[in-house]
Amino acid sequence: KRLVLVKAEAQAINPEIRKTEAKVVDSVVVTELSKPLTAYCRCWRSGTFPLCDGSHVKHNKATGDNVGPLLLKKQ
Ligand code: FES
Repeated sequence: KRLVLVKAEAQAINPEIRKTEAKVVDSVVVTELSKPLTAYCRCWRSGTFPLCDGSHVKHNKATGDNVGPLLLKKQ
């Protein structure tokens, strides 16, 4: 038997939410954070998941998607 590997086609992971925006980014302001800004991945592509490492940029270019991180900002 031969094993045939098929490369998965890049696909968007956001089918309908806020598609008129170039990139969906939300912010939450909290009063107690150790760092002034923390970005959490929502594209499931980050090499440092759950933190965003910017991998969403490559994903968006490859798929036409518009995903971005959740930003936690220290007030
Ligand atoms: Fe996933 Fe940035 S790497 S949102």
